[in-house]
Amino acid sequence: MSESLFDTKYEDARLRHSKLIKEILRHDEKYHRQDAPEISDGEYDALRRELESIEKDFPDLASKNSPSQKVGAKPAKGFNKIKHAVPMLSLGNVFSEEELNEFLERVRKFLGLDDTELLEIIAEPKIDGLSCSLRYENSILVQAATRGDGAEGEDILANVKTISDIPQKLPDDVPSVLEVRGEVYMRRDDFAALNQQQTAKGKAEFANPRNAAAGSLRQLDATITASRPLYFFGYALGEVSDSFSPTQWGIREKLSAWGFTAANPAALCQNAKDIMTYYNSINEARPDLNFEIDGVVYKVNRLDYQERLGFVSRAPRWATAHKFPAEKAITILHDIDIQVGRTGVLTPVARLEPITVGGVVVSNATLHNADEIARKDVRIGDHVTIQRAGDVIPQVLGYIESKRKADSKPYVFPNNCPVCGSTAIREEGEVATRCTGGLICAAQAVERLKHFVSRLAFDIDGLGAKIVEQFWKEGLIKTPADIFTLQERDKKSLTPIRAKEGWGEQSARNLFASIEARRVIAFNRFIYALGIRQIGEATAKKLAATYGDLPTLRRSVYAAQDRHSEAYNDLINIEDIGPSVADDLIGFFTETHNLDLLDELEGALTIEPYTLPSKGDSPVAGKTVVFTGSLEQVTRSEAKAKAESLGAKVAGSVSKKTDYVIAGADAGSKLNKAKDLGVEVLTEQEWLDLIRP
Ligand code: IVH
Repeated sequence: MSESLFDTKYEDARLRHSKLIKEILRHDEKYHRQDAPEISDGEYDALRRELESIEKDFPDLASKNSPSQKVGAKPAKGFNKIKHAVPMLSLGNVFSEEELNEFLERVRKFLGLDDTELLEIIAEPKIDGLSCSLRYENSILVQAATRGDGAEGEDILANVKTISDIPQKLPDDVPSVLEVRGEVYMRRDDFAALNQQQTAKGKAEFANPRNAAAGSLRQLDATITASRPLYFFGYALGEVSDSFSPTQWGIREKLSAWGFTAANPAALCQNAKDIMTYYNSINEARPDLNFEIDGVVYKVNRLDYQERLGFVSRAPRWATAHKFPAEKAITILHDIDIQVGRTGVLTPVARLEPITVGGVVVSNATLHNADEIARKDVRIGDHVTIQRAGDVIPQVLGYIESKRKADSKPYVFPNNCPVCGSTAIREEGEVATRCTGGLICAAQAVERLKHFVSRLAFDIDGLGAKIVEQFWKEGLIKTPADIFTLQERDKKSLTPIRAKEGWGEQSARNLFASIEARRVIAFNRFIYALGIRQIGEATAKKLAATYGDLPTLRRSVYAAQDRHSEAYNDLINIEDIGPSVADDLIGFFTETHNLDLLDELEGALTIEPYTLPSKGDSPVAGKTVVFTGSLEQVTRSEAKAKAESLGAKVAGSVSKKTDYVIAGADAGSKLNKAKDLGVEVLTEQEWLDLIRP
């Protein structure tokens, strides 16, 4: 190699190396400190691998500062956890006028309103910041928490007290317990100024105002928060000791009177036309607003309606977000990588020339599956159009024909898993191609572990995705059960965790403590953690509510192998569980490795039987009920939702296990069956009397 050629190569490598370091550190920060990863773990690994390969070729680049010498950033520690008195929910989405109409229709139908009845909707900006719950007791700010997983957040009171437009004392006439929820955000001009300062100090810029607000608020040192210009918009309530307004609009006015800032413009709309007028005008005004919004939020105005509508899983039925259209850009598709997920699904990921879309640098996008690639006919080397909408993963839309190279070739989807080499197959009627390697596939095993420790599952602090990968590679944790023997084994190890690069006495001790803290786990979380195909959070809860504890669930699903058994009937009788979900469950609970794993976990853990979310004093808590015929006073959906909120299980058909059948007008075969089986039958009125508080 000639001297000058080497120089150029070295120079290229040095530049790329320094860029990679910046990128990796930024993602470390995002992942470990802000809980807001922008890229997948696979993508992150690719960056680290590239860094390591450059350092192998040019060893003098591997200085002490290189992330290759450390294991991720230290996790943010020190915030206390706070349980929310009322869960902090997220919002469903609509993306078009049509979907808006569907939302309004759903609400009307649930409430049983006909077209002549007024359904007022309040429309407000959807602020792109961090949600936060402020608790006032006797008018004094006593608690402030992040949303966290919705049930439990982090105590950020000290930080919140530095935000100038958050009142620390309210007038005397407010309810004695008052939780105000809203968004902490950074104004656009302040954001620009902060980034200038960051650059001047040689520090990394923040990608957007939301990230800057997050980075500023989640500081263990509140003096840093105080030095950052943050503001707060109040828009909802948590726990309140006395109600003080019959409408959402009234809440808005009261909050303003008490010293909170409300986001403007807002509108009280009477129909879809009003709503669309609001939406279009705010979309136009968007560039002139001094805060970032990523859509608008619609809320049913009447609180009695909100109460009746309640929520599904994690989002209220009485509100939704209308997101702005996605932003698009054109860039080069350098490569297509295949990622292997927890259930073996192979997902093609586009590696792109990095490009800024809507304020965020995008270098990867999803291509969904083999069919999508074929349909769009995107090829490596193409110029492609990509789109990013809100927090949704960027997507590749298509390619630019005039820029296609003459020698480009259609992409061929692999027939084997890129990680374990097992055959990848597509089952009849499925879009996903799956690796058949099961647990011999490293990718599946690792992804399953990551899922097991993730936030809605075991939520083990200090055992993030990166550490799981590392421990897996080192053979320390191969199965979920290994997590709970880690400390015992570590005591005898010649290379204990505390001695590892990036660790120490304290961090190892913290890790063991957070594992110990999770030896007691709620049954529904446990089911979700198993990562069974098609079993998300909501279905896990339904299974927990139906079977109550793990031995019963195991026994029942095992027995359901016989498709003619009562156990099978009971299983598919659970709402949301049809034959396909039932197959996945049966598949899981009959597989030997899984049964061994369950035995081990049962031995290591205390799995708390599911307690129904009701005040246990409702006479219908724990009962199985079936509605049939047409109801007159409430709609079927509302009746079901109400029964569930009181802790009853609502089934689709009558069996010996049914406690009550509520028969409306024209009830047919279900009523007859109830009579045959001697199940108690109630009229709609009798039911309403029974559940009246
Ligand atoms: S109301 C029950 N109003 O958007 C949920 N949320 O994507 C009540 N958000 O978790 C939320 N602006 O953090 C509401 N004007 C607004 C909002 C807003 C931003 C956030 C909120 C929510 C998230 C859902």
